[in-house]
Amino acid sequence: MKDEGNNVFSVFDEIISRDEKQRFLSQKSRVIWMTGLSGSGKTTLAKYLERKLMDNGYYSKLLDGDNVRSGLNAGLGFSETDRTENIRRIAEVSKLFLDGGIICVNSFVSPTHEVRNQAKVIIGSNDFIEVFINTSLEECEKRDVKGLYAKARVGDIPNFTGISSPFEAPENPAIEIQTKNKSIEESGDELFTKLLPLIKI
Ligand code: ADX
Repeated sequence: MKDEGNNVFSVFDEIISRDEKQRFLSQKSRVIWMTGLSGSGKTTLAKYLERKLMDNGYYSKLLDGDNVRSGLNAGLGFSETDRTENIRRIAEVSKLFLDGGIICVNSFVSPTHEVRNQAKVIIGSNDFIEVFINTSLEECEKRDVKGLYAKARVGDIPNFTGISSPFEAPENPAIEIQTKNKSIEESGDELFTKLLPLIKI
């Protein structure tokens, strides 16, 4: 659609702005991007965080690897190409939530600097909050909640992060959380406290 001055209008000029939605929700929308090894505690802490956010009046949406891969990204595997596409789609979806004023809590292994950077570029660096759930491979393997490390060690899962596929730890995450010898409450409250100034209006 064009007006007389030949300016191009789109539906984005007419819908309610992100700013108005943020004010309505009394929060700054951000994408909380949680990265870490499988079994590091990302999803456990993301769930804890979502509850804590709501109890404190913040509205959020949680996206996590296992769930997104069974729906939106069904059919994608763990090759470098598929992981890149997995993260690209998630970043685009997160951006839609962001524009809706919603805090998006993302829990994805996102193992390399490259894929996380791709997400950051799509989302925008001001809105992308990188959170490193720093649990060592040794500890994750000891926990082996889903039994995946045992299978990966005997070669039953190809390209398994930390075993047969690399995990590059973030160099300068906005927030870093250690989970070893800490309760979910301790790590989760630490995450919430560090996050609060970034979402407070
Ligand atoms: S990512 O690397 O593309 O970001 P994503 O977070 O979506 O990964 O999925 C990781 C989850 O998939 C893990 O927590 C684990 O349960 C499962 N999984 C299955 N195969 C693999 C694999 N080869 N590498 C990593 N995780 C895997």
